[in-house]
Amino acid sequence: MTYAVETFHLSRKFGGFTAVDKLNLKVGTGEVCGFLGPNGAGKSTAIRMLCGILKPSSGKAEVLGFDVEQESEKIKARIGYMSQKFSLYNDLTVRENLDFYAGVYGIPVRERSKRIEAMISLAGIKDEEKMLAASLSPGFKQRLALGCAILARPALIFLDEPTSGVSPTARRQFFNIIQELAAGGATIIVSTHFMDEAERCDKIAFFNQGRLLALDSPDQLAQDLPGCLVKLDLPDPFKQIPVLEALPFVKECSFHGPSLRLLVTSSDCMGDLARITGVKPVRLVPNLEDIFINLLHQQDSERRELP
Ligand SMILES: Nc1ncnc2c1ncn2[C@@H]1O[C@H](COP(=O)(O)OP(=O)(O)OP(=O)(O)O)[C@@H](O)[C@H]1O
Ligand SMILES: [Mg+2]
Repeated sequence: MTYAVETFHLSRKFGGFTAVDKLNLKVGTGEVCGFLGPNGAGKSTAIRMLCGILKPSSGKAEVLGFDVEQESEKIKARIGYMSQKFSLYNDLTVRENLDFYAGVYGIPVRERSKRIEAMISLAGIKDEEKMLAASLSPGFKQRLALGCAILARPALIFLDEPTSGVSPTARRQFFNIIQELAAGGATIIVSTHFMDEAERCDKIAFFNQGRLLALDSPDQLAQDLPGCLVKLDLPDPFKQIPVLEALPFVKECSFHGPSLRLLVTSSDCMGDLARITGVKPVRLVPNLEDIFINLLHQQDSERRELP
């Protein structure tokens, strides 16, 4: 497999603080890779290094076969980037914004209107074409910003939280566009805090405190969850949590609506759990939130075990 992005112990420090810590990441050509992790985990810092706009402190990264430090200009010319704080020109219309960016990217004048038409149609902003960017709703602003970022048909697209602050319907439509671009052969790296979006990625890179804790498909991550996830419906669940947490085979215990959700070491423990609580546990399929909580706890306990 050829990789659109490959990093080797890529790190970035700000003073004494390490924002990205020895990142080893591989993203294949044509993949949609989701960057997930809590606030401050290092997702945007990693993206900015991969775009060639922030120098690494140490380590190496190749993006589209180019070195991020030595060949950052070549990278910048070949990628699309929509930052967390994207900028549109508020006093220009939708079409004028696209026309402006077409100029910035050096798209030949004879090709411009065809490209802009295609982008307006892909982003679903035909009816808004003559509106000022300032008067667009957040969802449409987002789509226009994406349109501007991909106007030059880049082979690799970085989208840093492109759907924050937009409605669920708009987010779903936005992700349909992302998947359409990937189907056309583009590689996409997209950071998000939304689990439904993460589920739609080919691969997930999960970050915490600058470290990459997992890199795999959502299905594989679910299979790799150590233990067995169960639901328990107890009469007084709140009081039961400390009792359940003290059991040696219970790894996690949390509330989900009126039920308790438990991660136990294996399915063999389900009988013991039924005997102790008097209620039969129901086995659940883990979702990404279960997986990430477990990864965070694993990292915590590994840290505690260090001398
Ligand atoms: N220019 C900078 N100077 C100092 N510290 C910085 C700088 N940029 C980022 N950081 C710090 O690096 C850490 C990682 O930040 P980053 O923006 O990469 O996180 P993130 O995963 O994108 O978070 P979020 O989900 O909130 O967007 C944070 O603690 C942040 O304060
Ligand atoms: Mg960020």
